Amino acid sequence: MLTVTAPDSAPFRGRTQGSGGAYSGFPQDSPQALSAAAPTLNWNAETDSSAGYYEAGVDVGQSFLDGNLVCRLVGPGECFFFSENLFLSLFFLKPRTLYRDHAHQASEMYFNLTGPCGFRLGDEDWVDYLGDSVIWNLPSRPHATRIYGIPFLSAVSWVSDLDSVCRVVPRDDWQGLEAQLQVNSAVRMMSFCVTDPDPQHWI
Ligand SMILES: [Fe+2]
Repeated sequence: MLTVTAPDSAPFRGRTQGSGGAYSGFPQDSPQALSAAAPTLNWNAETDSSAGYYEAGVDVGQSFLDGNLVCRLVGPGECFFFSENLFLSLFFLKPRTLYRDHAHQASEMYFNLTGPCGFRLGDEDWVDYLGDSVIWNLPSRPHATRIYGIPFLSAVSWVSDLDSVCRVVPRDDWQGLEAQLQVNSAVRMMSFCVTDPDPQHWI
């Protein structure tokens, strides 16, 4: 019989952001654990905004459609483990991706494993977070994510309203942000090339 032990809550007693919050102290062996699990992880891209996660016909943007991968770990369907009360997935975004502002009834936690990455929560300005941060998106509060030169990997969970549908919340700066990410990332890469010619060190 498989026994699952509840994790020590001590690492979650740090500072919080969002409404919310962030803390530091992910297990140091997370990269090794992910590498060991890699052969069994099943990744899928949201390549069609009418696939069911979003309201039909919404414009999630080409940047997101070209740059996302989702691995469903726990949930009510198409997941490794079944649960009616918890949705947990790994969420990957390529560098230079804008995940446009959207909202859903479900309360959502992002356990970020890489960074820095930018989040816009509600009407607040963008804030950058490091790779051991936690973001709490309140129910129905719009939020957006932008990825710079480092690939984004986060564990994302919902603990209520698992049948929520995402609706895109239009903002008038999306095209400018997407163009800005391309330029800024190019400058960043040129900077790395000058100071360190070894490509293995660029990310
Ligand atoms: Fe969300």
